[in-house]
Amino acid sequence: MSPKALLAANWKMNPVNAGDALDLVKGVLPASTAKPELVEVAIFPPFPWLLGIAEVLEGTTVKLGAQDCFWEISGAYTGEVSPAMLKGWCQWVITGHSERRAYLGETDDMVARKTAAALANDLSVIMCVGELDEHYDAGRTAEVVTGQVRAGLANCSADDSARLVIAYEPVWAIGSGKSADPEHAYKTMRMIRKTVGELIGAGAARKVRVLYGGSVNASNVEAYVELPLCDGCLVGGASLNAEEFTKIVEVTAAVYAHL
Ligand code: 13P
Repeated sequence: MSPKALLAANWKMNPVNAGDALDLVKGVLPASTAKPELVEVAIFPPFPWLLGIAEVLEGTTVKLGAQDCFWEISGAYTGEVSPAMLKGWCQWVITGHSERRAYLGETDDMVARKTAAALANDLSVIMCVGELDEHYDAGRTAEVVTGQVRAGLANCSADDSARLVIAYEPVWAIGSGKSADPEHAYKTMRMIRKTVGELIGAGAARKVRVLYGGSVNASNVEAYVELPLCDGCLVGGASLNAEEFTKIVEVTAAVYAHL
């Protein structure tokens, strides 16, 4: 558990209007900047809203991230966004989100290339891993998640550890309201840490942060952020409601204040 929690707000493909995006970021700003020594907040809006939101966040402790990036720096890759383009505006990028794996056909190899490219361009990375419900039901969580971690970090080294975060997001818990049992989350996060240690060494692995994601809200966040080995949460739907996200930040700050 790191000395301060990381709360990452993945807005996904929301809100549709620039004005609503600006209202949302302004709505979460007071709580997100209130206790920076206890909670680090990073916001991941859709690409078109990054520049406007970067202006709002300038000079605050809140960090900005993109929800994806490509692995090349420039060239004939229609529709793609390079990590070199992002680094002027963002400190963070998400790679390997299960929605990209499911809807865009992202493979472990693509996730590994994106993760390495983002790290090489001075961005911090939240790499997402998680099992499908059929894996969970078949007791295959450890095998699936370990495989994703090993494949996704194939091009990473110990030097990347301080800028590397792994988010454990069981796919069946995302957007379902069916958040994972904290015991299951804990065991899987412990296994993720062990796997990272095998890949880059135990010392470096201690610097890698591990988050839980999947139907996190103000009522259940405490159960995750108080888990040993949990460094915070990746929040989807609940981060689109300024009041709810404010409560998530406040609850997390209260847990970390008592550590
Ligand atoms: P929900 O919080 O909406 O379940 O989404 C989680 C997620 O996918 C964050 O990346």
